[in-house]
This record gives sequence, structure tokens and C-alpha cells, in this order.
Amino acid sequence: MNCQLVTGGAGFIGSCYVLQARRRGIRVVNLDKLTYAGNLGNLASLRNDPDHVFVQGDIGNAELVRHLLDTWRPDAVVNFAAESHVDRSILDPEAFVRTNVLGTATLLRVVKDWLARLAPGQAQAFRFLHISTDEVFGALAPGDPAFTETTPYSPRSPYSASKAASDHLVRAFRETYGLPVLLTNCSNNYGPRQFPEKLIPLVILNALDRKPLPVYGQGMNVRDWLHVEDHCAAVARVLEGGRVGESYNIGGRAERANIEVVRTICALLDELVPSGQGPYADLITYVTDRPGHDFRYAMNCTKLETELGWRPRHDFASGLRDTVRWYLENRDWVENVRTGAYRQWIAVNYASRGAVCDAASDAQGGKA
Ligand code: NAD
Ligand code: TYD
Repeated sequence: MNCQLVTGGAGFIGSCYVLQARRRGIRVVNLDKLTYAGNLGNLASLRNDPDHVFVQGDIGNAELVRHLLDTWRPDAVVNFAAESHVDRSILDPEAFVRTNVLGTATLLRVVKDWLARLAPGQAQAFRFLHISTDEVFGALAPGDPAFTETTPYSPRSPYSASKAASDHLVRAFRETYGLPVLLTNCSNNYGPRQFPEKLIPLVILNALDRKPLPVYGQGMNVRDWLHVEDHCAAVARVLEGGRVGESYNIGGRAERANIEVVRTICALLDELVPSGQGPYADLITYVTDRPGHDFRYAMNCTKLETELGWRPRHDFASGLRDTVRWYLENRDWVENVRTGAYRQWIAVNYASRGAVCDAASDAQGGKA
């Protein structure tokens, strides 16, 4: 049986990847620190699965990683583990350096040393796949061509700078030590089980609670949205068939201005759960912009499509509808993640923007 060491496999995207990998019969050793974003509830369906081995721990713990490699001898390491929220990186940049840069460096070094001890035949098929983001390429203006794999890196937030640094380390380990690496850079994901500090779940859940829907700046910033299941299917394709040392862009060809996304969610909720208190769009509240807010991201995925035959299966309209339904139908999951730590984050992030979305505080800010 194939075995993969998946890091960050209790988070939004990692857990989706783990569920897909188990459906394909791959044994998964899942190393996750269980930060605020990690949630074993995402993996509830694997509770009695002997081929999903969950280990709570840090990718920066060299001894633990070495032990897991020696014990399970995986065919691949797939590194999802990261601090992933731009707004948090603005308030606490060092946390992003610790996990995304130092943690990845330790993981790479331990994997490199372990591989060097294997017999040559055993090491040949091994791959280290690093999950990255479109944000490393910087920001596009309207009408600029989409990012390709050769677009120079130009990160503009502590989050994207830390991801760019980790990507550079991964490539450096290929050049310096011959580590068989692959990289993927993906656009914004959406779908079930996304922690509700990110735009789409935040808007769905705030709307259901009749709280303000905070839109940064004018709401004209553009993101390219991809369903999380399509992202994970692309990662699997790259692992199977990607050329060692290469990176592959992944995106949804679904560029939308934020305000359009928010209005679409409101319209879906008007249809699925009419409130009787007026349209949900009445809750839209323009708030102080994110500092250094990247205007637009867009991915050119031609390389992945032509080399590996990948195509997304979800279109944004139906994928967003399914996602809204998922949050409506999984209220237990929602209540479990809305802990004290979540409520504290909402208060910290939105108080200074002129709109506070938590029940603990009164809503302020200009209505749309
Ligand atoms: P997430 O924040 O939901 O999950 C991150 C997971 O990593 C959590 O389970 C957390 O507990 C774990 N983790 C954090 N620090 C760790 C450490 N030091 N050691 C072990 N585990 C640790 O993030 P996500 O949205 O699932 O993103 C996963 C990966 O995909 C990240 O590398 C992110 O940069 C990348 N990515 C995300 C998006 C997106 O839209 N969410 C888009 C492109 C790329
Ligand atoms: P987010 O989900 O944080 O992802 P990223 O910053 O990695 O793209 O934000 C998506 C977009 O939505 C981004 O342009 C910022 C914007 N946004 C808001 O307008 N309001 C919010 O409350 C949040 C969290 C994000």
C-alpha cells in the first residue's frame, strides 16, 4: 500500500486531500499541530480507519518527523501545514515565519537526511510536494495577464512573503541536495469545512446571524476562486505525473470581485433561507481596507491542463451554492469551531476596521 506523510491534514484543504487520498486507498500519516485552524472534526469520517494515522505535532519538530519517516517510510511528503490567513499575518508576522519558513526548512532537512539513508531504489520514487499560493506572485492590475509559473515572485504581505520564502527553500533543496520536489501554487479555495475567518464562510455565517457582512475597501479586489476538491485532485495529479523540480499553477478561471461574491452569497441565502427581515444584502458593510491589500490575482493553468490533463469539475456558481448548503446543513461543525479563540479573533480584526461582527460587540460602520 502506498503511504503519504501529509502535514496540515486537519486544516481546510489538507483534510479534503486526506479524505480523497483514503478513497484512493493511500495510507495517510497526518501530522498536524492542531492550531486554531486545525480541526479533527474535519476527519470525523476516518475515526475508525486504521490507515489514517493522526499525529499531533509540529513540522518544525525534527525528532518527531524523523521518527514518523523511519516508522512509516512514506512514498511522498505533502506539505499543507502553514499559517494561512493574510489578516493574521499582518497582526503577528513572526508566527508565519516560524511555521511557513523555519518549519518548512526543518521538514526539508529531515526528509533530505532520511532519504540519504535509504537504498537508491527506494529513494527513486519518493516525492516532496509543497503546497503554495498564487499570492507569492504579488498583485495584478485589471487587464494584466494571469500569473504563469515563470512570473517573478513579488510577495506583498507577511503571509505571501513567508510562503515565497518556503517555495525558495524547496527549490534550493532540489538544486543543492537533489531532493525530488514538486510545487503547486493555487488560487483562493472555497468549499466545505473552511474556517469561518475567510471571506466566504464568514459572510455565510454572519448573514445567518444577521451580523454585518464586512467588505474591505470598495469590494472591488478580485480573487480567482477554485473549489477545494478540484485543488486536491490537481495536487494528486501533480504527485502522480508532475516533472520533478517543476511547479504547477492551479486556478479556477473564476475571477470575481469580492462584492460580487458577497452579493451572490446573499442572493443564495435569500432563496434558501428567506429571513423575513429584508434581503441579506442589507447587511453589507464597507469597512476599512486591509493594509497593502493585493488588488487582483489570476492564474494561468495551461501547464497543468496540457501536461497532466487536469480540469476543475465544479463551476463557481454551483460550487458556491453547494458550499452555502453545506454550512446550512452542518451547524454542529460550525458551533464546534466558533470557540472563544474564534470570537476573540473576530473582535480583534474587525474592531479597528469600524465594524465588529461578534455578538459580544455592537455593529458599527457604514451600510452599503
Ligand atoms: P488552514 O489554516 O485551514 O490549515 C492549516 C493546517 O496546518 C491546520 O490544520 C493547522 O493546525 C496546521 N498547522 C499549522 N502550523 C503547523 C505546524 N507548525 N505544524 C503542523 N501543522 C501545522 O489552511 P488551508 O487553507 O487548508 O491551507 C493549506 C495550505 O494551502 C497552506 O500551505 C496554504 O498556504 C495553501 N493555500 C491555501 C489557499 C486557500 O485559499 N486557503 C490557497 C492556496 C494555497
Ligand atoms: P481571504 O478569504 O482572507 O483570502 P485572501 O486574502 O488570501 O485572498 O479574503 C478574500 C478577499 O476578501 C480578500 O480580497 C480580502 C477580502 N475580505 C473582505 O472583504 N472582508 C473580510 O472580512 C475578509 C476576511 C476578506
